[in-house]
Amino acid sequence: MNNQTSTTALKVLITAGASGIGLVTAQEFLKSGAQVYICDVNQKALSNAIATNPGLQGCVADVSVEAQVKDLIEAAQKALNGLDVLVNNAGIAGPTARIEEIDLDELESTLKINVVGQFLCTKYAVPYLRRSTQASIVNMSSAAGHLGMPGRSAYSASKWAVIGFTKSLAIELGKEGIRCNAVLPGAVDGPRIRAVIAAKAQIMNKPLAEVTRDYENQSALGRMVSAEDVANTILFATSQAARSINGQALAVDGHTQALS
Ligand SMILES: NC(=O)c1ccc[n+]([C@@H]2O[C@H](COP(=O)([O-])OP(=O)(O)OC[C@H]3O[C@@H](n4cnc5c(N)ncnc54)[C@H](O)[C@@H]3O)[C@@H](O)[C@H]2O)c1
Repeated sequence: MNNQTSTTALKVLITAGASGIGLVTAQEFLKSGAQVYICDVNQKALSNAIATNPGLQGCVADVSVEAQVKDLIEAAQKALNGLDVLVNNAGIAGPTARIEEIDLDELESTLKINVVGQFLCTKYAVPYLRRSTQASIVNMSSAAGHLGMPGRSAYSASKWAVIGFTKSLAIELGKEGIRCNAVLPGAVDGPRIRAVIAAKAQIMNKPLAEVTRDYENQSALGRMVSAEDVANTILFATSQAARSINGQALAVDGHTQALS
């Protein structure tokens, strides 16, 4: 690997890195030689991730609470001795329900974690990213961030917002050498998507196997994607190989044209 593609020694902060896509991304960055700091709201999952992944550092923080984000960014840049990459991964599934059944607090908590959380982490990380010569931000969106998704209006609205946020930052920060891209995974096989599928089968009154097949067939590849597929795209987007890629919505969905 030449220095156009190497991610060696990148200083990386990943939010919600104690499980799911965030943890797999942390592991892939560690394998590449990067220094990685994670946060998570779940203390037990965080301790377990740190104990089982040598070199991984982190602290408890809720990305939707401004005071905790401020402390997180300070702790991360201190532990890493700088900051090159922010991966705004934290996001919740939010309610799976028809519009009339969604409570305001469910909508607000979805927007607060999925959108406000990215805003806060970016706001406090930018002063440190500005000092890096290989700075970039990856915002986690979703296939539901460029397609409509019935029964998932709160989540879809939050992930479309991430695209507007990303494109605005790409222009606002580009000339300062900070790139910003969004990653849009399709259905990622794992416990989270299995829970969404089960809830959807219930509200649509359909057999679980049928809804599972519908999810697999959303992709032109006829299968869900893996957390490693998403992590690989994040590593590429933050590498020097992607030095001219900015403001993009990078889909990792096997080509998905509609969500059911
Ligand atoms: N899993 C999928 O199919 C899929 C598809 C597209 C996009 N995404 C997006 O990818 C990201 C990660 O998804 P996942 O499936 O790995 O998630 P997950 O549900 O497995 O959760 C990952 C971690 O997020 C942490 N977390 C939750 N709220 C938090 C908060 N406020 N602050 C800090 N940490 C918090 C949880 O404790 C957990 O450890 C999310 O933004 C999600 O919307 C997921």
